Amino acid sequence: MAISYKELGFVNTREMFKKAMDGGYAVPAYNFNNMEQIQAIINGCGQSRSPVILQVSKGARNYANATLLLNMGKGAVEMARELGYSIPIALHLDHGDSYELCVSCIESGFSSIMIDGSHLSYQENVELTRKVVEYSHRHDVTVEGELGILAGIEDDVAAARSTYTQPEEVEDFVKKTGVDSLAISIGTSHGAYKFKPEQCTLSKECILTPPPLRFDILEEIEKRIPGFPIVLHGASSVLLKYVDLINSNGGALADAVGIPEDQLRKAARSAVCKINIDSDGRLVITAMIRKIFKEKPAEFDPRKYLGPARDELMKMIIEKNKNVLGSADRY
Ligand code: G3H
Ligand code: 13P
Ligand code: ZN
Repeated sequence: MAISYKELGFVNTREMFKKAMDGGYAVPAYNFNNMEQIQAIINGCGQSRSPVILQVSKGARNYANATLLLNMGKGAVEMARELGYSIPIALHLDHGDSYELCVSCIESGFSSIMIDGSHLSYQENVELTRKVVEYSHRHDVTVEGELGILAGIEDDVAAARSTYTQPEEVEDFVKKTGVDSLAISIGTSHGAYKFKPEQCTLSKECILTPPPLRFDILEEIEKRIPGFPIVLHGASSVLLKYVDLINSNGGALADAVGIPEDQLRKAARSAVCKINIDSDGRLVITAMIRKIFKEKPAEFDPRKYLGPARDELMKMIIEKNKNVLGSADRY
């Protein structure tokens, strides 16, 4: 039997995005796959009084089991209320790749859906997205679509450039599909290796600085669809502190580069209302576990290394909300 997200205490993203647009900040969307991540997200966002979008990917559903993840989301809402956090919480499908997956998530209690048709032709993307929107809106679930393809590290620079969102398509896409928000491609990408070293400049301190995001494209998009919520995927900063901690404790992350935080803060002040962060959390967890394994090789209680990893992740989330997304102290 289908369950409405409203019974589970989730909200869709409509009000969240309106407030974020008016307030000049972005709502954080953090991915989770396990208990420690969801604890860190809820406590980090609860303590910093930030709205939050809990993101579940298809990979997360395969890894953790869809029913278990949904119930973790549901438990997170209950835990938040018990702890006195009055923040809005959305449960969102990240990178939905089919109509059927979107329907299944909505029937199980998701409040927000992404249908990622960005790899399809423009026409196919419009058709698939419109079909998902029609179903979702009947259930008051909000929908994120995507136009443009995020660059991958394997792309050559020319190919990466040709996949930026084309501003002349956005108005037509939004009108034809009825989406509630739009993910765009302006230079971000998924993972910890967002740029090749040769795309970056090297500082005296040997720090790689990537090329700036294409704010000109973002501005052109904002002109064509004023006040419409924009989403940035691939927005981890790949914080040097954690990359160094990983590498100094036996890891091998060479040339990992992310999106500088000042660029994300600038984006958050614009029509960008949702910023997706997954890799930064993965790096924090890995860094802490590596550090503890090296310092305490006799430790074998998972709580003794997952606990500190969770606490550090919560600290990172509070920092992001306060200093990067600007979403802290809004509730
Ligand atoms: O955009 C992708 C997210 O980081 C989720 O990654 O598909 O490995 O769960 P995943
Ligand atoms: P990162 O890999 O930069 O964290 O991006 C996550 C994301 O876009 C999830 O959809
Ligand atoms: Zn993404």
